[in-house]
Order: sequence, then structure tokens, then C-alpha cells
Amino acid sequence: MTYPILNLSKTLTHLDLLAMKQRGEKISCLTAYDASFSALIDAAGCDVILVGDSLGMVIQGNSTTLPVKIEDMIYHTRCVTKTCKRALVVADLPFMTYDTLENAAKNAARLIQDGGAQMVKLEGAKIEIIEFLVAQGISVCGHLGLLPQFIHQLGGYKVQGKFADAAEKLLADALEIQNAGATMLVLECVPAELAKQITEKLTIPVIGIGAGKCCDGQVLVVYDMLGISTGKRPRFSKNFLTDTNSIESALKNYSIAVKNGKFPTEAHSF
Ligand code: KIV
Repeated sequence: MTYPILNLSKTLTHLDLLAMKQRGEKISCLTAYDASFSALIDAAGCDVILVGDSLGMVIQGNSTTLPVKIEDMIYHTRCVTKTCKRALVVADLPFMTYDTLENAAKNAARLIQDGGAQMVKLEGAKIEIIEFLVAQGISVCGHLGLLPQFIHQLGGYKVQGKFADAAEKLLADALEIQNAGATMLVLECVPAELAKQITEKLTIPVIGIGAGKCCDGQVLVVYDMLGISTGKRPRFSKNFLTDTNSIESALKNYSIAVKNGKFPTEAHSF
């Protein structure tokens, strides 16, 4: 097993992630919601920590992400940024907190000023909102494919972009999000071939979850990859704790597997 050399002396920026894409180096990302996991994930060499609104499910025990409030996100983002030294921290804007330009700017500012996040993530091709946030100096990560905040419209946690028209729309949306000034994109639950095309077309890093091995990086919900989430583990995830006896090495093995292109395999893809 080859261990990548880590530069633990500075906090990564979106420019470092861009340079990694350009060099063909994979980006590893995990979710975290508290100071202890943040420190462990950071020390394991993950490049990005996502304070996802998945906390509504794995921390708060809800069946969707919809009940998560901006105060919850600020609280958990602040816990994470207190102990994260190297990884870039991205925080989710929760459901209905970016319904207008003013709300988006106000709530993104709270995640940055009160939470300490470097970038905010929002779901869907909200082009005007992204342009507005970028114009205020806020770094934005887009999120396309399966959008958990749209779960009632989608009718379930299903693979998106399977048919030609939906695939074309996803590619067009991804380009528009990039043109609006987003500096990263998360692609969730889309066919691996479509994710490959989008990753090749975009100049910004594309981080996949259930989107195959050709994305520039991978993200998983940390509780899923440690096998401690309640309910069924999604097909695209893998329990990294089964092959080792410590959380630290499970996190490190995940980051290495992403960087060496060993995760995800076809078994974790659509
Ligand atoms: O909320 C979250 O954890 C996410 C990831 C699943 C990408 O958005």
C-alpha cells in the first residue's frame, strides 16, 4: 500500500483542490459534525470536510434532511472548524435557507462568520443565487443529481440522470453552475458514465458520491463508512471499519483508497 505524502502545515483552499484536479490527484472528502471526528478525519489526510445537512438524519434521527435549521448547521460547523487544521471545510445551506438572494447571502455569511466554513454548498441549479453569493466573495459548491432537499419531489432516494434527456439537463446544469462562479460540484447518485462526462467537461473539481470512480474526488457520510449509521448502508458506500481495528485507520484507509483509485469500485457505482 502506498501512502501519499501529506502537507499538514497549511489549510487547503479551493485553489489547491483545483491544482489537484489539474494534476489528476484524487480529492478525499468525508462528512463531519463534531470536533472529535473533524480532528481524526483531518489527521487521516482527507482534503475536504463537509458539514452536511445529512446531520439531520445521522445526528438528529430524522428520516430526511428537511428539518435541519441554519442554527444547527452553524453549531456543528463551529464544532468542526475548531479542530480542523488542513482540510477545507464546506458547510451545507439547509432547506429553504437560500430561497431568496437576501436569505442566501445572510445564511451563507452566518456559516462563514459564526461557523468558520470556507465554502457553502447548496442543492440544485440555483444560478442567480450562486452568482449573487460569489459576487459577495462567498465560495460556493454546487450539488446536482440526487438532491435530498427535493426528496418529496423526487419521490425517493433514486439514481438520477439515467435517461438521455435527464443526463443532458444534468450536464447543462453543471456547466451553468461552473459559469456562475462555483468552485466545486458534488454529484450524487448518477450513472458513472455520466459523472465521467461531467467531470471531463468541467474545469472545477467534481466530488462524487455514488457517481463512479472517474470523478475528481469522493465523499461519503462518515457514519456510513464506519458502519454506525442506523438503517441500510447505501450501495455506493463501504464499511471501512470491517478491515481494521481502529477508527483512525479506517479513515486513513478510506482517504488512501480514494487517492489510489481503489474506491469506489463498480460494486459501489451505478
Ligand atoms: O449532507 C451531506 O452529507 C451531503 C453529502 C451526502 C454529499 O450533501
